[in-house]
Amino acid sequence: MLGVLRQTAIYRAGVSGRRPRVPTDATQLEARARKAMPAEAYAYIAGGAGTGATVRANREGFDRWRIVPRMLRDVSERDTSVELLGRRLATPFLLCPVGVLEMVDDEADLAVARAARAEGVPMIFSNQASRPMEACARELGDSPRWFQLYWSTNNDLVESFVKRAEASGCEAIVLTLDTTMLGWRTRDLDIAYLPFLRGKGIAQYTSDPVFRRIIAEEPVVLGKDEQPKPTPAALRTLVQLTRAYPDRFVPSLRSGHARAAVQTFTRIYSRPSLTWEDIPFLRERTKLPILLKGILHPDDARRAIDEGIDGIVVSNHGGRQVDGATSTIEALPGIAAAVDGRIPIVLDSGVRSGADAFKALALGATAVGLGRPYAYGLAIAGEAGVREVLQNFKADFDLTLGLSGCRTVAEIGPEALTSAAEAITA
Ligand SMILES: Cc1cc2nc3c(=O)[nH]c(=O)nc-3n(C[C@H](O)[C@H](O)[C@H](O)COP(=O)(O)O)c2cc1C
Repeated sequence: MLGVLRQTAIYRAGVSGRRPRVPTDATQLEARARKAMPAEAYAYIAGGAGTGATVRANREGFDRWRIVPRMLRDVSERDTSVELLGRRLATPFLLCPVGVLEMVDDEADLAVARAARAEGVPMIFSNQASRPMEACARELGDSPRWFQLYWSTNNDLVESFVKRAEASGCEAIVLTLDTTMLGWRTRDLDIAYLPFLRGKGIAQYTSDPVFRRIIAEEPVVLGKDEQPKPTPAALRTLVQLTRAYPDRFVPSLRSGHARAAVQTFTRIYSRPSLTWEDIPFLRERTKLPILLKGILHPDDARRAIDEGIDGIVVSNHGGRQVDGATSTIEALPGIAAAVDGRIPIVLDSGVRSGADAFKALALGATAVGLGRPYAYGLAIAGEAGVREVLQNFKADFDLTLGLSGCRTVAEIGPEALTSAAEAITA
């Protein structure tokens, strides 16, 4: 079985003096990745909003729940599979959409796609990916993929992204609601670094016919104050920008397309005026299941169902948007009660172990999303690093399942948990 096989492989390699390149411990994983990446990449990936209270709360929330293992239940045969939107998945994991992966690895999303396929874990393409969805789709073969959408101020672009996702074999659209503006991210602010302004993480745009048309039809004219001063740093940025544009380097430098692409992107990438009234527009334009990502209140979950939404992602964006927000595992029981099994719930933000996944499933999630940990694996060892991270999560989950006295995911229920407070008073 998964867990025992993985353990055995690691311990056997140890006999020949080899230790895992990618740490199995989440804190060590982050520390090792930090050494493998530029400072601004680490700031962007690890950082949260404001004081970082939500990032901490995500972990504390999981720690407040305790598993109560049951004994003597013959767990020699275990099945970790779950059913999600009509597909049976071997394990309850998905790869969250994580943008700008070129900051840590040249192959970026392509490497993640290859790892996802090899490990049989669905990949959610980010709207802010470093490689176009069509290129990732080719790497994925028949492996499942979804597309995550940010709602642009331009509805033609929204439609174009959705059509491309359909043509790329995506099985669902995940509309992220919590990032109509970027959160107040102090680590990035203090080094004055935003990857998009360097042309990173805009590959879905620069490869899009509607986006290219917008650039051609609505040229950006920079005001005098907006022209960057011709410092060496500004020149370096211009070169980076130009490399990001998929035309040949020299023509795009001359045509100014690259800078225009970034300016246009910043102008249209998201729409803070979005309301529930906009949801039917998307619903009418695709037959694919739609999930809303960023749901943290039971009433929003109920409304999503009323609007014909097919699933929700309980997420606080890894603590990157609202400082001091509720953790997702704290929000989950109320939301699960409101949803009452009518649509699937995916939970992300702070999932760092098999036990975390177990707790989320016990409280009503159908599956969990992995975010930063796989970006760290990518930084350490590229595609192989992402694979190792996934193998570790799968193994850890399988062992936790069995050691808690469950043979299948269906057997994981709320009775498998106690809250820390109850555990102390009992
Ligand atoms: C570097 C980074 C980039 C992200 N980019 C996106 C994105 O493009 N779209 C999106 O919906 N969520 C994005 N997220 C949020 C993730 O999908 C997910 O909600 C979050 O990473 C979960 O928290 P965790 O990584 O701490 O477990 C990003 C997260 C990180 C860390």
